[in-house]
Amino acid sequence: MRHVTKDTITDVFMGYFGPDTDPRLKEILKSLVTHLHDFARETRLTHAEWQKGIEFLEWAGNISDAERHEFVLLSDVLGLSSLVDMLHSNPQGTSSSVLGPFHITGAPPLPIGGDLRKDFSEQVLLAEGTIRDADGTPIEGAELDIWQTAPNGLYSSQDPDQDTYSFHGLQTTGPDGRYAFTTVKPVSYTVPGDGPVGDILRASGRHPWRPSHLHYIVKAPGFRPLVTEIFPDDDPYLDEDTVFGVRADLVMTYEEQPAGSFPAEGFELSGKVDGPWLKAAFDLVLVRE
Ligand code: BEZ
Ligand code: FE
Repeated sequence: MRHVTKDTITDVFMGYFGPDTDPRLKEILKSLVTHLHDFARETRLTHAEWQKGIEFLEWAGNISDAERHEFVLLSDVLGLSSLVDMLHSNPQGTSSSVLGPFHITGAPPLPIGGDLRKDFSEQVLLAEGTIRDADGTPIEGAELDIWQTAPNGLYSSQDPDQDTYSFHGLQTTGPDGRYAFTTVKPVSYTVPGDGPVGDILRASGRHPWRPSHLHYIVKAPGFRPLVTEIFPDDDPYLDEDTVFGVRADLVMTYEEQPAGSFPAEGFELSGKVDGPWLKAAFDLVLVRE
């Protein structure tokens, strides 16, 4: 191939595949390299810029470990994670949203009506709803894995002052498909900015904020697992999430409840909530596999 040129190199690349290449891998690589080559031609990418890109990727690799996933964060802030989510979402079910890096496995069981707030003194938030199928039938035995930030904006894995499973819990629904727990409001926070992704955000004049949210993973036999988040409608970053995770159907409202109205039974905090409290009602809809 002595006569490869800037105009033929993409076709030459296509001709290099061996006969046993997996067809899907071939389809993906063909498209990826076509777009990469077009990108270099369109922008007339210089050696210095190409080198900078390589250094960026090397930095992302070096900063990553079992707990820090800089490439996932890169995919998140470029909108790729959310685009893949939306490409595969089923309109009959609750939208999925980014998993993020702060989920940990092995969360302790949280009974229906259980409490995640523990010793925090912030206003009580009661989160509840029904896990159901697309026809509205409640799903018994659905598992709801819950995690959120503490009032200081940190997940337990980021914060030496929190226990490992602080603001993490695993709830299983009964025959009525209902979940319910008490907690405090999650808060808006910034994605990690001390690596190459932080550099990209700053260089692009972008802020690193995510609107506050509760993270849920919902699993039930026979249904597609759902990784999602729910967002309060009063969050200032709702329409400018730096990882593009908000969908219209994932927005809920905190309903103010008067002092003295907290349910007298059915909750770990029953009898212990005197002042006004908040309620967030949100149903989760799973689609069959
Ligand atoms: C999160 O929601 O925990 C998250 C998602 C994407 C990037 C960083 C954090
Ligand atoms: Fe989060």
